[in-house]
Amino acid sequence: MKVLVATEKPFAKAAVEGIRKIVEKENYELALLEKESDVQKLYEAVTDVDALIVRSDKVTKEVIDHAKKLKIVVRAGAGFDNLDLDACTARGIVAMNTPGQNSNAVAELALGMMVYMARNQFVPSTGSELKGKTLGIQAYGNIGRLVAQLAKGFGMQVLAFDPFVPAENMKAEGVTPVASLEELYSTSNYVSLHIPANEQTKKSINYKLLSLMPKGACLVNTARKEVIDEDDLAKILEERQDFKYITDIAPASLAVLQEKFGNRIFATPKKMGAETAEANMNAGLAAATQIVDYFKNGNERFRVNK
Ligand code: 3PG
Repeated sequence: MKVLVATEKPFAKAAVEGIRKIVEKENYELALLEKESDVQKLYEAVTDVDALIVRSDKVTKEVIDHAKKLKIVVRAGAGFDNLDLDACTARGIVAMNTPGQNSNAVAELALGMMVYMARNQFVPSTGSELKGKTLGIQAYGNIGRLVAQLAKGFGMQVLAFDPFVPAENMKAEGVTPVASLEELYSTSNYVSLHIPANEQTKKSINYKLLSLMPKGACLVNTARKEVIDEDDLAKILEERQDFKYITDIAPASLAVLQEKFGNRIFATPKKMGAETAEANMNAGLAAATQIVDYFKNGNERFRVNK
């Protein structure tokens, strides 16, 4: 068996060594394609592999077409919008993610960015505190739950909206469930997004929702840029001098937004949410382990395609 780790944004060295150990223990071969943005190189690298591990790297139909022997692809991370699931299914390839493995890193970054913005990006001036403010969490999954716990440590009041999570579960963790997105946005000083990018969510964060937020509001996005309606975001920033946006995934229109709205908008230079040694290790080792478990035992627990 041959396993390829194809990561334009590579894992930490220790994580790669951990993956190697797991793979070579089974007498499988490990190949690496790191820091490579030329898609032709990816096409060449996948031709003879049985398994593929990626991060946000796009596994398109073209990649699948070149991967004649591919049986399983694992996205080492949570969001799998970078995988063409239909193309995988059509070829009988199993697609998986590694949910929860990098959640803590993302949650810590969300709070870190909130502090950074509340302190005016460390430009000497009078900032504000998170204590006593209300945080609305949109989607109470692995990351949303951790953000809630950290925010409570800061003394924030935490609300959450998630139609798929029973209200009782939120209450048991000291989080107030709300019944609608409208309620979440209209009562939260900060809203933190933890939704995937899919047909239902793309461009769903729109003017209608953002305009409900109270004075001094801040939208926090460590999810995906596609969930934001960027025209509507620009409109609200234009209309409201008090509105701020912080994101770990630069909007397509970042340069224009920054020119117009200055430090009311902040984007990390490259997606950093899962960029910790710990998260690399957790997600990388989980991906390798899931591949071995699939080949040896047929375990499809984390399968995301039909
Ligand atoms: C995820 O969905 O797990 C995160 O967005 C992390 O993405 P990355 O592996 O490209 O950093």
